[in-house]
Amino acid sequence: MKKVAIIGGDGIGPEVIGEGVRVLDWFRERRGVALELWHLDLGAERYLRDGSTFPDDIKQAIAGECAAVLLGALGDARVPNFEHAREILFGMRFGFDLYANVRPIRALADSLVPLRGRTAQDVDFVVFRENTEGIYAGIGGQLRRGTADEIAINEDINTRKGVERIVRAAFGYAKRSGRGRVHMADKSNAMRHAHELWLRVFHEVRAEYADIEAQHLYIDALCFELIRDPSQFEVIVTNNLFGDIVTDLGAALQGGLGVAASVSSNADHPERVKLFEPVHGSAPKLVGRGLANPVATLLCVAMLFDELGFREASIELEGAIAGAVRAGETTPDLGGSLGTRGATDSIIARLAPA
Ligand code: NAD
Ligand code: IPM
Ligand code: MN
Repeated sequence: MKKVAIIGGDGIGPEVIGEGVRVLDWFRERRGVALELWHLDLGAERYLRDGSTFPDDIKQAIAGECAAVLLGALGDARVPNFEHAREILFGMRFGFDLYANVRPIRALADSLVPLRGRTAQDVDFVVFRENTEGIYAGIGGQLRRGTADEIAINEDINTRKGVERIVRAAFGYAKRSGRGRVHMADKSNAMRHAHELWLRVFHEVRAEYADIEAQHLYIDALCFELIRDPSQFEVIVTNNLFGDIVTDLGAALQGGLGVAASVSSNADHPERVKLFEPVHGSAPKLVGRGLANPVATLLCVAMLFDELGFREASIELEGAIAGAVRAGETTPDLGGSLGTRGATDSIIARLAPA
């Protein structure tokens, strides 16, 4: 029996994760998907109540006992410095060394693609975002804070090992999945130290994959090309910050943040815990209104099934999600008129009876 830690987190996190749990339970009961759920009380509420962010015993139990974590979102206006969120989110991404943040950008219906003349066929690529280094490493400091002479520094950390493993993960995935093209995006024209390393490593690794087309783009050009012609992209690999930005852009191409899913893992240790999270945040304006789209979370559940060896369940769930979206049985962000729960109901209704 594999164990999955469930963390609703903040804002709409608990609302969408509640729907994820309903669907997990459906598959556990009706399809015999052998997963045990472990509900964790972590997030802003807990932090404000007792000061805990990501206790060591929980961290160790997740690393030692869990196959997956399903996390909603973190971020709450009552914790203005994002302290609890950083400790939980980066505590997992960095603490468990989950270096490959994989974010598929796939439009489930033509109507979701916002570009003139483009259809769902044109939006189907996967972003490999480096998840343990870069500007997110947290190295830096402030000097003379609050004065006219203040200095604020965040260092951009790029290691040979870190760059190489994410570039390899992208090429490895391209080869396994039959995708024939990998783009790497950096800013090596301006960041000539850190990103020259990316460029060099990219060219080294591509030499091992003769049958995969490898293209380098500067990140600004990538953003331009993603809008001009998204159909040219199959796999994109980039650093932590650019990956964050470009996957929100990708989310817009696939129908919005309500439908963008992700998994973070350590591709060298597939047996280690994997972290599944929607790309969106805690969406404070939607809280308690039944407006949060559950699809991003449910696509995470489908990815979780796939990664944990329940391939049939994954295909079945993805089909039901796509069916509901194509039928317009969605929350308002996708043009429908259903609430968070109703949108999930219409997905569950599409699953064949047991
Ligand atoms: P956000 O993703 O919460 O919201 C951006 C926009 O997308 C808003 O218009 C929101 O209403 C909409 N949206 C997001 N999720 C949606 C859903 N499921 N259904 C329908 N619409 C949805 O980003 P933000 O406003 O920049 O950030 C809010 C908070 O969330 C901040 O504290 C931020 O730091 C945090 N955040 C956390 C994560 C995470 O935990 N992984 C990710 C992004 C942002
Ligand atoms: C994401 C989020 C996080 C990130 C924030 C909340 C730190 O935007 O998962 O995309 O930048 O990684
Ligand atoms: Mn983001």
